[in-house]
Amino acid sequence: MKSKISFLLNNDLIEVELHPATVVLDFIRSQRLTGTKEGCKEGDCGACTVLIGEIVNGEVNYRSVNSCLLPLQNIQGRHVVTIEGLNLEGKSLNPIQQAFLEEGASQCGFCTPGFVMSFTEYLINGNKYGDRQPLDSIDGNICRCTGHNSIIRATEKISIAFKDMLNTKPRLKELIDKKIIPEYFSTIQDRLQKITQTQTNGFDSDNNPKYYISGGTDLFVQKPFEMLNSNVNFLNHKKELTTIEIKSRYCCAGSGCTVTDLLESDIINSIFPDISKFAELFGSTPIRNSATLGGNLMNASPIGDMTAFFMALNSNIVLANQQSTREIPLNKFYKTYKVTNIQPGEILKSVKFKIPQGNYFFNFEKVSKRTYLDIASVNTAILLTIENRFITDIHISAGGVAATPVYLFQTCEFLKDKELNGKNICEAANILQKEISPISDARGSRDYKRMLLARLVFTHFITLFPEIINVEETV
Ligand code: FES
Ligand code: FES
Repeated sequence: MKSKISFLLNNDLIEVELHPATVVLDFIRSQRLTGTKEGCKEGDCGACTVLIGEIVNGEVNYRSVNSCLLPLQNIQGRHVVTIEGLNLEGKSLNPIQQAFLEEGASQCGFCTPGFVMSFTEYLINGNKYGDRQPLDSIDGNICRCTGHNSIIRATEKISIAFKDMLNTKPRLKELIDKKIIPEYFSTIQDRLQKITQTQTNGFDSDNNPKYYISGGTDLFVQKPFEMLNSNVNFLNHKKELTTIEIKSRYCCAGSGCTVTDLLESDIINSIFPDISKFAELFGSTPIRNSATLGGNLMNASPIGDMTAFFMALNSNIVLANQQSTREIPLNKFYKTYKVTNIQPGEILKSVKFKIPQGNYFFNFEKVSKRTYLDIASVNTAILLTIENRFITDIHISAGGVAATPVYLFQTCEFLKDKELNGKNICEAANILQKEISPISDARGSRDYKRMLLARLVFTHFITLFPEIINVEETV
């Protein structure tokens, strides 16, 4: 299986015919652009970070991604920027590279290109959601040599030097003027427009695929070689799968939306104004920039963060084949470990939930071995509505406590129409223990997970209603 794929690599137009699941990192390095490094090849170290630019709403939007988990098809019609693509005319360093040099932020240098790419993305985008700080932009990069302090100093130095620029928009011209990115970036938009976009609707290039690939951030950790020897079909270039919209009283998010798309969405932020505070629990910046909603749900992992999030919204999922679509509750989608209700020929098209009304509250909690950038030991989300201190509607999800993601039916049924007080929450914690069946594994023993979920459900209530529920009542 081969595909014709056209894209811009730094300042050059590339047209190749290769298997579309070829890993971008491998391709880049085969072009003798060896500044992009292969470290973990699992999305953990950031040594392979590149920028991917695509035209969104009439301008080129750049995001940092891990090229080790990126299939070639996902850069069709896009601009790929490697560290070599940031080089200025002559041999002069750009201000980020200069700051790394001055602060001793590079020793062996293996990680440095990745840090520079990630921080360049921050200078291009600034705070796109929430209170994103300069350091947050390098949350997906690891250095083994420097101890990170010198890198922190370098990023602070640049942030202070270019503080005023971070409030201007559009910023690409400003970055070119300040010699942070080279002049050729000003030509990219026109050149991308000329590249034929091969956007398909999910079925018209149906080649009896063994795998549908969306963001690929898990598939390319698990099965990169199997992908290369299989028929595959790609989903997240398709417009209909990447929109977030309100239809009637429902919010519908296409399965190809990335986690970043959700975090940046005006619609999602209008419904959940605090959503950005959960961002750092959903993986690193480059992973959030690639990983999709559909990929997370279809993975069927018992600890998918997006699954817990959308299950607590009491979401339905829309499944489609070439002839028809059907809609089922997300909380009925998972049958057993990694087995779903999807039928042959179907894809997950979108996820929809009723926009909550009235006095509603939402919270997400997650505990993992490392606080950030790790998969959950246990995660849980809650959506509830309160009227006159009574719970009029409630939905709680939990991950890591059974073979599948779990919706706590009995616990929710118990709490519905109950008064919001410590006694009822304690009783609910007893009920939830009976409807979960955790197993012992590398992330914790069965008993630990059982206790952890109960504590996290308490945490939902203590966080959301500190004036009503206090810690002492829940011990
Ligand atoms: Fe480590 Fe890609 S090589 S994140
Ligand atoms: Fe060696 Fe960062 S300088 S890994």
